[in-house]
Amino acid sequence: MEHTILIGFMGAGKTTLGKRVAAKLQKPFEDTDLRIEKEQGRPISDIFAKEGEQYFRMLETKQLEELLKEKESCVLSVGGGLPVQEANPPLLKQLGKTIYLKASKETLVKRLQGDKSRPLLQGGQLEEKIESLMAAREHIYEQVADVIVETDHLTMDEMVDRLITIVQGEG
Ligand code: S3P
Repeated sequence: MEHTILIGFMGAGKTTLGKRVAAKLQKPFEDTDLRIEKEQGRPISDIFAKEGEQYFRMLETKQLEELLKEKESCVLSVGGGLPVQEANPPLLKQLGKTIYLKASKETLVKRLQGDKSRPLLQGGQLEEKIESLMAAREHIYEQVADVIVETDHLTMDEMVDRLITIVQGEG
């Protein structure tokens, strides 16, 4: 099934943009984080606090396996750490076309300031946390992506248009 998959760092706009693109294409919108929270009946921060990150990573992979069984093509946003887990890039390949929403550290710092929902960003210096996670992840995002969209200088409407063009095979 050819889904459209959005990857990128926390705060890159995957969920907001995914919803808008799905609505415009009249396709369902899926989000691994939201699916996990729904299935577990609790927020991700609670899963991290009680069972730890590795358990959460296992739940993410399980979601991709579930999505492989779904017939209808959708727009899918995945958590920022998902592509980094070894088991997941081959599953993403099978699921469809992967688009990396690339944003600079400066943009991400602005967007993530004051965030309380993401366990990996709590405590300490936000900028340093983003920097070290980015250093570990960016090359993987680039490897996994079929298409890279630089988002720093685009408005939300421009991003939506750009993604629609890509999904429709013209980008
Ligand atoms: C994570 C990103 C989050 C969520 C979890 C871990 C990460 O999703 O899956 O907090 O490791 O980057 P978003 O990228 O949607 O914020």
